[in-house]
Amino acid sequence: MKKFNQNFIFSTSTCAFQIEGGRELGGRKKSIWDDFTIKNFFIPKKNEPKREINSIKIASNFYKKYLNDIEIMSKLGVNGFVYNMDWARIMPDDSGIPNEKGLKFYENLFKNLKRKKIQPIPILYHWDTPIWLEKKGGASSRIFVKEFQNFAKIVFKRLGKYSNTWFTNDENSTFTTLSYLDSYNPPQKKNPKEFWKAVHYLNLSSAMAKKEFENAKKNGFVSKNAILGIDHDWNPAIPYDLNDVDDLKSCKIFNKYNLNLWLDPNLKGEYPKLFFKEIEKMNLNKIVKKKDLKLLKKYTLDLIGWNYYRPAIIASPKRLNEKIDWFNKPINFITKEAYIVFPKNQNYTDWKWLIKPENLFHGSKILKKRYNNKPIMIIENGIGNFDKKINGIVNDDFRINFLNEHIKMVQKALNEGINFIGYSLWTFIDIFSPSGGYRKKYGIVGVDFDDKNLKRYPKSSFFWYKNLIKNKNADWNKINYKKFKDEALNSLKEKIWK
Ligand code: BG6
Repeated sequence: MKKFNQNFIFSTSTCAFQIEGGRELGGRKKSIWDDFTIKNFFIPKKNEPKREINSIKIASNFYKKYLNDIEIMSKLGVNGFVYNMDWARIMPDDSGIPNEKGLKFYENLFKNLKRKKIQPIPILYHWDTPIWLEKKGGASSRIFVKEFQNFAKIVFKRLGKYSNTWFTNDENSTFTTLSYLDSYNPPQKKNPKEFWKAVHYLNLSSAMAKKEFENAKKNGFVSKNAILGIDHDWNPAIPYDLNDVDDLKSCKIFNKYNLNLWLDPNLKGEYPKLFFKEIEKMNLNKIVKKKDLKLLKKYTLDLIGWNYYRPAIIASPKRLNEKIDWFNKPINFITKEAYIVFPKNQNYTDWKWLIKPENLFHGSKILKKRYNNKPIMIIENGIGNFDKKINGIVNDDFRINFLNEHIKMVQKALNEGINFIGYSLWTFIDIFSPSGGYRKKYGIVGVDFDDKNLKRYPKSSFFWYKNLIKNKNADWNKINYKKFKDEALNSLKEKIWK
């Protein structure tokens, strides 16, 4: 097996609106997720299978507890920390002038991470548009591009020196499909025209951020060898029936809509044909100017961030007429030529997400080929489940298994010459999950949300990851579950857990 080299990034990821809190502090003003969670606040009863939409005003209070959280990261032994930043904290209004306290917060965070030899890996935007910008049209308006460019310029100038690995956006696909095609997340547009506009303006925003990144390099604000990527959640397609031509055809179509549409514009600098077909149908040709296409071509990004949770089993539309007892109803993703289906004989998480580590490996080969061996980093990979705390300890063997099997696939991909530069699990700490609130647990560090200080505690998986990083080239098939559980239990007395 290929060895992980010294520079390989072992990291954890998380995101401002999901953990930061301090939403009314430090000169920050509201964003669309503040409004959404206030207006749609809902806590289901225990065991009621409904979506929890809870307050994010304090969340895990990372805003106040980040110094101690960095101590915890240092104990874990990671050399990276992926953080999706909060635009509204830095640009709380439309003056174009940044909020010094907001910049200072991130500066302190990044400085303190570096002090502990942890590289911050910032992502500029994760679905959370400042309200002032939403009022002007948000992501489906051209104004967004100009404002994002200004935000990026300010961030790179002040904070650029703290990292050599940056990302523009997290999951444009999830954001636009759930918030513009559908009304599941804010700003709840449910409007296909707005959707296609948002797709284009988000892509253009990343290109303009790259322009600012290059300028910041010239001006010495960002290191010459720093790289800027785009983060995408691709679900590689698996045919429902391997021998069925229609299912296979639908898989190809699905990959075009789920992968090419989102990565080609910023990595190859061009749209796949389907984009032009779709906007033509919507009578939206005018939104794409010649100048835009030139900018996409000129400012391509350097790095692929891949959020891999699950692949998608794909069936052709004909299956809708067949009597199949699916585990969940088939759903489509933008196109009606391919359906994501849920056969009963598969492994699923508590939230019915398919578990298939091997597709991380298969998918990475496709990424390598399509995007010319650009560097890849796993930015999110994790399992959202109910945790059980017994005698003060969450013994999350299911999480250890899930993560371990996926990291093995990264190792296998390295062996095949795939240019993986890092792996970041989701998440460092329990979060507010968009689809499950605080009860859908992802963290390897737990947060006691019933405690007024939001006390942290280690789960068994924390010690599994610590051990894996320390012995990165050991045999990962031998997992000593008892050891990790004991370590978590013994560690509870340490002062760090507060
Ligand atoms: C990714 C997002 O799509 O999925 C995260 O970038 C999110 O913000 C993660 O938490 C898991 O989704 P969920 O809804 O289960 O929290």
